[in-house]
Amino acid sequence: MRVVLLSPAYPAEMINFARGLAEVGASVYGVGDTPREQLPQRVKPYLHDYLTVPRILDEVDVMDRVSGWLRGGSVDRVLTNWEPLVMLAARLRERWGLPGMSVDTVRAFRDKQLMKERVQAAGLRVPRSRRVHTAKDVRETAEEIGYPLILKPIAGAGCADTYKVTSAAELDRVLPMLGGLSQASCEEYIEGEELTYDTLCIDGKPVMENVSQYLPKPLEARTVEWISPIAISVRDLAQPRLAGGLALGRATLDALGMGDGFTHMEWYLTPKGEAVFGEIACRPGGAGLVDQMNYTCDADLFREWARVSCWGHFEADATRKYNVGIVFKRAQGWGQITRIDGLVDWLRACGPWVVEEKLLRPGTPRRDWKQTQTSDGHVIVRHPDWDEALRMCQAAATGIKMYAQ
Ligand SMILES: Nc1ncnc2c1ncn2[C@@H]1O[C@H](COP(=O)(O)OP(=O)(O)O)[C@@H](O)[C@H]1O
Ligand SMILES: [Mg+2]
Repeated sequence: MRVVLLSPAYPAEMINFARGLAEVGASVYGVGDTPREQLPQRVKPYLHDYLTVPRILDEVDVMDRVSGWLRGGSVDRVLTNWEPLVMLAARLRERWGLPGMSVDTVRAFRDKQLMKERVQAAGLRVPRSRRVHTAKDVRETAEEIGYPLILKPIAGAGCADTYKVTSAAELDRVLPMLGGLSQASCEEYIEGEELTYDTLCIDGKPVMENVSQYLPKPLEARTVEWISPIAISVRDLAQPRLAGGLALGRATLDALGMGDGFTHMEWYLTPKGEAVFGEIACRPGGAGLVDQMNYTCDADLFREWARVSCWGHFEADATRKYNVGIVFKRAQGWGQITRIDGLVDWLRACGPWVVEEKLLRPGTPRRDWKQTQTSDGHVIVRHPDWDEALRMCQAAATGIKMYAQ
């Protein structure tokens, strides 16, 4: 089994997927723009070979270079779990006639307008929305949809360039900020809680399902610096309040023709209990979501993804044992981390339920909280009881304080 894995070491989490592939017996041909000598030591044992390309996002150039590199050798799979490369992987599969999702299928997991159109065509509830190119388009759509509305890139990530607009006057202020985008999605703002629906699929059928709840919703977490964003995976997926979201998620997979691999969907649960589609990607959620799912079931989904992708079967026990909460911390002030308060007390209070503590240590430069979802590090706790997991997460959010200078 020869597998081309696009970007095997960036973002760092991808190294785990390279490991998974090697562990299920694949020979991994990595392709990335990290120079070979700068590859992390950790990934090297998992790579059979590696091609450095100058610009990994330049699809035409990468396709030509990879084809030249592999000339004569056959490949069985082209895979990636990094969002900007899912289309390139589909193009390479099409060029070489390999199994896996087609360019047309993958397009609906990348283009937020197309995905909503296809999901809506299946009779599912999506925010009313339009693809907009000009300020005039936006104003016309705003008239039609009303306020509040959301303006966001067609293929964004991490809430970049995403705006909630509550009035025509605010729209006038926001429009200039979107100048750099050639098109955008303008949509109805959906009130409510925000959750995920994540799967690992074989031929579009989930062999593992997950729901995590965001606290607060990502757009708010991204707008207000003092917030410590929390995401908690829900152990009990049978509870009635999730039924609509699970049904929406499964129907979305059918509507979009999902194949093998991870999906990461976001959905809204309105105050009336309605589940509304948000977005979906054909890769796992970032910001530690795979680790969170692993801690939920005591599984290794990095390896199971590889097994699914190469051999078409899944061997883990996906029984859900815990609610797993991840809490991201942001230091107060700029510069280097100087102090962490409250950590020792929090660790003592939570005892064995803490499974990870990866806060940046004093002396480390602060990260830009707008640019990274992981902020200045995180802690992970788990508990079979939802209320306990939530309580420990909230205690970390308010009780642990980091400072920078
Ligand atoms: N129609 C909407 N109604 C309410 N909130 C929205 C809507 N669209 C986006 N958001 C908020 O903006 C965030 C980012 O939008 P999303 O479509 O998920 O893009 P990204 O690819 O950046 O994650 C969402 O997580 C949600 O909090
Ligand atoms: Mg999102």
